[in-house]
Amino acid sequence: MSFANNIFPHSAYYLISFDVVIVAMTLSLASFCWASIARAEPMTGPAVSMYTKAEVAQAAHRACEPTPADSLGPFYKSNAPVRSMVGKGYVLNGQVKSSRDCSAIPDAQIEFWLVGPDGKYDDDHRATVFSDKSGGYRFESNAPIPYSGRPAHIHVRVSAPGYKTLVTQHYPQKDQTETRFDLVIAPLNGASG
Ligand SMILES: [Fe+2]
Repeated sequence: MSFANNIFPHSAYYLISFDVVIVAMTLSLASFCWASIARAEPMTGPAVSMYTKAEVAQAAHRACEPTPADSLGPFYKSNAPVRSMVGKGYVLNGQVKSSRDCSAIPDAQIEFWLVGPDGKYDDDHRATVFSDKSGGYRFESNAPIPYSGRPAHIHVRVSAPGYKTLVTQHYPQKDQTETRFDLVIAPLNGASG
């Protein structure tokens, strides 16, 4: 028997209504108190990022802009042997990613070709590498050297089902022996990038 029932003993309508009002008021008071406490809570944890979700999404998108294309050149040959090494002295590694959402692309076909230590293109300095399940790849070669007036470079061609084929080049920095070179490719449907 509630307090309300003592006040309105002959009215079930008032009994129910009054109980509902009491419950609603209690919930409102609790909500108000909780909101006040939350507002007054001092910042004791790590700094809270002030970036909006849209800004975070834009930053992520910029991080996955498609890798700029570069010329194929006259020395490309298809069906280079599958191997991750054609020499020693320079390591190129990275991840194949989608420009749509930065997701890793496994089993992407990556073709490399560069001049050998004698400064000439030949079949010994071509390779096909497939990205692993995390999209990662590793390719080792002789240290690239300038060729025909051009700076040292390694040609790269990346293809994967559902994506536009990327043809690009990597330019090693002076005295570098290892470089991370992520390969970001765009989806065929052009949803992003
Ligand atoms: Fe070249």
